[in-house]
Amino acid sequence: MLVFGNVIAIDEAKARVRLKLPDMDDYETPGWIFVPQACTVGDKSYNLPAINTLVAAVMDSEMQDGCLLGALYNDEDVCILGDKNVKYIKFEDGAYFKYDKTTGFFEGKAPNKIYMEAPVIELKGDVVNTGNFSSTGQVSDNKSSMQAMRDVYNSHTHTCPDGTTSTAMGQM
Ligand SMILES: [Fe+2]
Repeated sequence: MLVFGNVIAIDEAKARVRLKLPDMDDYETPGWIFVPQACTVGDKSYNLPAINTLVAAVMDSEMQDGCLLGALYNDEDVCILGDKNVKYIKFEDGAYFKYDKTTGFFEGKAPNKIYMEAPVIELKGDVVNTGNFSSTGQVSDNKSSMQAMRDVYNSHTHTCPDGTTSTAMGQM
């Protein structure tokens, strides 16, 4: 049967919850209710509702076992957007993923760090940043690397009428 309730307990290791059902005299489900995930074999996803989240669930006739259908907005926890063209996941600490298909603008924000790892990370397009840029490897443009420029600069001399000058005093 279809029920509506609030999450009162979370089994974080097994992705299950227990519910309290206000429409059934605050009946508390004795067993753990499954929280459906996008994928669980091979590829695995993880997403759990918070305590007090209003959810819909289907329960067996004995109200013992069940499965969550999803979390629901309500008057207390109101919907964050009013635009069907936007996909948005917003976190309590200010982090978010957002895509608006009317503008083609994908946004991601994290309060601490965004980390990506791969043998090659390729960006196609101009890169604009407002902070510093650093590398523990080589930095190159379409002509040569900064190390190649440094090697030329540090060893270069000039030939003058009175003789050859020494290498540059300030070494890079
Ligand atoms: Fe010079």
